[in-house]
Amino acid sequence: MKSSQKKVFKKGAVLFKKMNIPLVDLKANYNSIKPEIDAAIQTIIDNSSFIMGKPVKQFEENFAKASSMKHCIGVANGTVAVELALRVLGVGKNDEVIIPANTFIATSESVTAVGARCVFVDVEEDSMNIDSEKVEQAITPKTKAIIAVHLYGRMANMEKLQEIAKRHDLLLIEDAAQAHLAEFKGKKPGQQSGIATFSFFPAKNLGAFGDAGGIVCNDDEIAKKLGMMRNHGRLSKYEHEFEAFNYRMDALQAAILDVKLEYLEKWNESRRKIAKRYDEMLKGVVGTPPVNADYKQVYYMYEIRTDKRDDLLEFLKEEGVSCGIHYPLPLHLQPAYKYLGYNKGDFPVAEKCADEILSIPIYPELSEEQQDYVVKCIKEFFND
Ligand SMILES: Cc1ncc(COP(=O)(O)O)c(C=O)c1O
Repeated sequence: MKSSQKKVFKKGAVLFKKMNIPLVDLKANYNSIKPEIDAAIQTIIDNSSFIMGKPVKQFEENFAKASSMKHCIGVANGTVAVELALRVLGVGKNDEVIIPANTFIATSESVTAVGARCVFVDVEEDSMNIDSEKVEQAITPKTKAIIAVHLYGRMANMEKLQEIAKRHDLLLIEDAAQAHLAEFKGKKPGQQSGIATFSFFPAKNLGAFGDAGGIVCNDDEIAKKLGMMRNHGRLSKYEHEFEAFNYRMDALQAAILDVKLEYLEKWNESRRKIAKRYDEMLKGVVGTPPVNADYKQVYYMYEIRTDKRDDLLEFLKEEGVSCGIHYPLPLHLQPAYKYLGYNKGDFPVAEKCADEILSIPIYPELSEEQQDYVVKCIKEFFND
């Protein structure tokens, strides 16, 4: 496919002018609620209340409520959120933790950070989340926990994972960095397992203006311990029950997140609407995300699949459409995990996903005209 000269193309009677469409548009999101965000930031500055305090507490309460969970503990980012969840449940040295081969390295880094060993498992062909059938084959006497990662805004099959975890007496943790308010069979992250972690990285469905993260749980003791672990093991200002970390959430980020949380359900609904339009328009052209009554997806990403991915990516770039690949190299093939001894071919589904997936623009402010342009470009590439 030679695309270079095609800057304006025709479909039916309509001419499409070249547009520039980012993968995510954080500026458009900010502009949609600018006065409220600006006021929240100004209040923190006026009060000079930068660390912990009311803003963090208020966001924690509101996010826990939105997540249908009892507690939320605000932390510095989504990576330490996973690390603290593992630590508070007692995962550590000589333990093995099962995680999907298709995820961001933060999941596995957290396992290593607590001194445990990553055991990768292949993913399902359609959901691209951890394959519960293969989880069982990876369990050894050293296995202590399973981390279910809910990628792209679509939850892993928590029902099956919970059943396996129970049967083998394993801990189950949900890495919901990409799945704010998503559901599997009516249950949100944390509701099935009792504990889930979130990233509020700026591009996430609920994103801060910098780094932030959170852990939701239902157990009072675990919540209390997590609250201390993220803040130097403090009982009071200079009384420390144990050595821990400074993994606190910034008050400024909490205030921003609290404003944005009010809009999260509406924004997720917009993402679902866009995804539905993409599903309809791209049917038969490329592979599209699975649609299943069990999932209420929040489409952090909308991943299409094609064996011509690299050429399509290049073509879309020329036409002004920014895309991403989440993720181009599965964890077992990362140089960082050479020491674990995995080889190419060990997890064929994850490897195939890595070769085929392409994340196309999706964000609440993406107009129908922009969506149509993205689709027209994809169809143009395939001469459809
Ligand atoms: C699945 C997953 N887990 C954990 C993280 C880590 O979050 P953070 O970047 O906030 O540390 C991310 C971030 O993208 C993620 O996608």
